Amino acid sequence: MPELASRAHIQNIVPVVEIALREAGCEKNEIDAIAFTQSPGLIGSLLVGAQFAKSLALSLNKPLIAVHHMQAHVLANLIEDPKPAFPFLCLTVSGGHTQIVLCESPVQLKVIGETIDDAAGEAFDKSAKLLGLPYPGGPLIDKYAQQGNGNRFNFPEPQIPGLNFSFSGVKTSILYFLNNAGKSNIYKQEFTATEKERDLFIQENLADICASIQQRIVSILLNKLKKASIETGIKNICIAGGVSANSGLRNALIEMGKKYHWQIHIPAFQYCTDNAAMIAITGYYKYLANQFADLSVTASARAEW
Ligand code: KG4
Ligand code: ZN
Repeated sequence: MPELASRAHIQNIVPVVEIALREAGCEKNEIDAIAFTQSPGLIGSLLVGAQFAKSLALSLNKPLIAVHHMQAHVLANLIEDPKPAFPFLCLTVSGGHTQIVLCESPVQLKVIGETIDDAAGEAFDKSAKLLGLPYPGGPLIDKYAQQGNGNRFNFPEPQIPGLNFSFSGVKTSILYFLNNAGKSNIYKQEFTATEKERDLFIQENLADICASIQQRIVSILLNKLKKASIETGIKNICIAGGVSANSGLRNALIEMGKKYHWQIHIPAFQYCTDNAAMIAITGYYKYLANQFADLSVTASARAEW
């Protein structure tokens, strides 16, 4: 509901900033610069934040810094000590993006691989929807998967060249698998199971289905990350974004790190999903690099990064 989201932003932005300043024990005139999210996102909400930040910067005579949401997810790894050493690779996995980012410094970042269709978070959420689970389904698949056997059902791993990802084939394969009550992943003229048979199959096998879906999504992500590490020779590895809260991904990454002698860095849970601290830390590094915006800057729903 984009319109309701922007209205909620208008109602909350002044009280939220006031509470943040009070809790930080900081006066307005002590602020060094104002950072805000420029892109990507719901345009109405972004405009509220951008307009507020510009007005505040103008009235306080402070520099303004425009932040890209995906750079901020990556730099969430720099909020707490110990920080990862540069250069590092970051697997950024959220509801809208799946990227492998090569980071030479906080402000020199390059996307070296990304999804050509659905994002990893979407793959979790859409699979959950097929299973009749509510949105967002990622955390629920994670929860049920913990009691299941991930080797029980086999979903195909797509063969995409280079470091790019694809998740739409896995989603389609899950759709056919469920509508054939587990007998096949292939669509033949019509689905072989009735709605009742499908629902019963899901009910009786939910944990194993969730574990198998999660295992496949995680293996797609980590196989590309392994390839990126081999191609670049970089063994400092970070993850970011909402899906990096997934316990299967975190555990498999730790195991892979031991096997390939990687230095792994995983942000605390509260810095994985969307948060304001990641915008602030990005503002800090852009401030050090003199990367300021002027008052003509505008929000954008999907600006390139
Ligand atoms: O980064 P984020 O909070 O928001 C975006 O910028 O998109 O990511 C949200 C995504 C959703 O797709 C949600 O299902 C997924 O992160 N997610 C998870 C888990 N926690 C959040 N997916 C799998 N396992 C989790 N534990
Ligand atoms: Zn996000």
